[in-house]
Amino acid sequence: MLRTNTCGELRKKDCGKEVTLCGWVQRTRDLGGMTFIDIRDRYGITQLTFSVELNKELYQKAKTIGREYVIKASGTVVERSNKNPKKPTGDIEVIANAMEIINPSDTVPFTIEDETDGGEELRMKYRYLDIRRDMVKKNLLLRHKMAFETRNFLNQLDFIEVETPVLIKSTPEGARDFLVPSRINPGHFYALPQSPQTFKQLLMVGGLDKYFQLVKCFRDEDFRADRQPEFTQIDCEMSYVTKKDIFEVFEGLIRQLFVKFKNIKVGSFTRLSYHDAIKYYGTDKPDIRFEMKIVDISEIAKGQGFKVFDDAEIVAGIRVPGCAGYTRKQIDELTEWVKRPQIGAKGLVYVKVNNDGTIKSSVDKFYGEKELIKWVNGFGAHNDDLLLIMAGGKNSTLKALGELRLEMGNRLGLRDPNTFKCLWVEDFPLLEWDEETQRYYAMHHPFTSPLEEDLDKLDKDPANVRANAYDMVINGVEVGGGSIRIHDKNMQSKMFDVLSISKDEAEKQFGFLMDAFRFGAPPHGGIAFGFDRMVALFAGTDSIRDVIAFPKNNAGRDIMIDSPATIDEKQLKDLHLKLDIKK
Ligand code: AMO
Repeated sequence: MLRTNTCGELRKKDCGKEVTLCGWVQRTRDLGGMTFIDIRDRYGITQLTFSVELNKELYQKAKTIGREYVIKASGTVVERSNKNPKKPTGDIEVIANAMEIINPSDTVPFTIEDETDGGEELRMKYRYLDIRRDMVKKNLLLRHKMAFETRNFLNQLDFIEVETPVLIKSTPEGARDFLVPSRINPGHFYALPQSPQTFKQLLMVGGLDKYFQLVKCFRDEDFRADRQPEFTQIDCEMSYVTKKDIFEVFEGLIRQLFVKFKNIKVGSFTRLSYHDAIKYYGTDKPDIRFEMKIVDISEIAKGQGFKVFDDAEIVAGIRVPGCAGYTRKQIDELTEWVKRPQIGAKGLVYVKVNNDGTIKSSVDKFYGEKELIKWVNGFGAHNDDLLLIMAGGKNSTLKALGELRLEMGNRLGLRDPNTFKCLWVEDFPLLEWDEETQRYYAMHHPFTSPLEEDLDKLDKDPANVRANAYDMVINGVEVGGGSIRIHDKNMQSKMFDVLSISKDEAEKQFGFLMDAFRFGAPPHGGIAFGFDRMVALFAGTDSIRDVIAFPKNNAGRDIMIDSPATIDEKQLKDLHLKLDIKK
């Protein structure tokens, strides 16, 4: 090795040792006669001291060194008189007696410190410099450790990791595929997998019993802070299991990760039906760290001559504790907030239950005190509570209230980043109706089995068939989803019928799976976790970009390597492709 120690490990007990360190120059300070260089590597930062008295030539050389130079320095470890308790190496320094510049550095485009002056675009363009920063490095280390722990946990339970192919076949179900043209099969395309769903099911038919894979998945869909076009799943499948078995194993995994990386014993996993999630939280991924459930007051609020409510499909609201003192200005601002296109509400009605028990509302003109008391009771409201009420179409109103609930949770500090509440959302609808194509789509995927007790509705009332599917939600983040699968050929074929996929089309798209089901498919089910989302949750960041070494930006571009990029004519020709781009 070029070095005897790393920059993060020397302590008081090492005083007197002769050491050699290698690393990057974090910063230099010259105090006239003494120059200090902070040298950094992955493991930490150590102070090097160059004194004019000890070695004039070396001192002069140290003064010429700039930030991010790669240097190698040797010297003696001594106790510092001026200790820095904030740094693990802050008790010591290395009095240098030799130093070599291994590689100089140009001025870097942003400061490589915790507080950096680099904007996101710049940091992404020079991501390798960003990775030198502690925060990014820490996230990547956490990611590595969580992956390692996951593999360990599943390995101990006899899961085996199997690699499934990356060049597969496009299917029209689900999100858009990324496609790869085949040179040797003109006009034919591979697709990159959106998930290894069918392969893991085939592995169950193959008898592997318990499979997992930390696997890259690719989806050509819109961007958000919690979505990337390529992302990683902890993908799992088990044979001869029910939902209960899946819950048990994967609650175990999540518990173990929390103990190991957050030193937290998470409480019991709450279970909530999709129906109740929407009814009480306006979303299928509720943050249950705080209550503030949605209350439907349609029955008591409609029919009193207030047109906005009378014409609405639903009148519902939330009870915000301790906020009756909100000023006119604050309520106006909240009203503007819910009217933004992202939320899309038409307006906001308030009722204040004042500290003296009097009630004040923005609809006093239409509702007398007697009526308003009914509302207050409906919400179970107390003195000093503020009721925020919306009306309109059912889905959009519940969704908007769900957003408002989260916003009020934020404003009141009810979403403590150090509290973790885990939740299973279950009994999703099996199907979703699409107006544009006038057909049903599978809400999860076409291989999910319907709930036994709803099977009789599959023909006559498909919209109300529930699926044996579940999501795991932590603090409002959908970290995973899965289902018990169909393993019966006839049932799978029936499912394709319900999805308006013709026999021919089903054969073309999924013939291999139907074939496999002819040869003794065991009952099976599984789940896939969004690994990036899990790491982000553990790292305390909202954006999965922070936990991916080389992420894509909002436009799906990697601005460091400048991709996607055009290809030259010859490549296009080899691939039998002709571009037709309208400018
Ligand atoms: P699903 O589509 O629900 O299920 O995906 C599983 C989990 O993957 C994460 N995820 C994403 N993370 C980052 N960027 C994205 N674009 C993205 N899309 C999804 C989410 C999600 O919960 N094959 C099934 C699983 C199964 O049935 O076993 C599947 O892929 O955290």
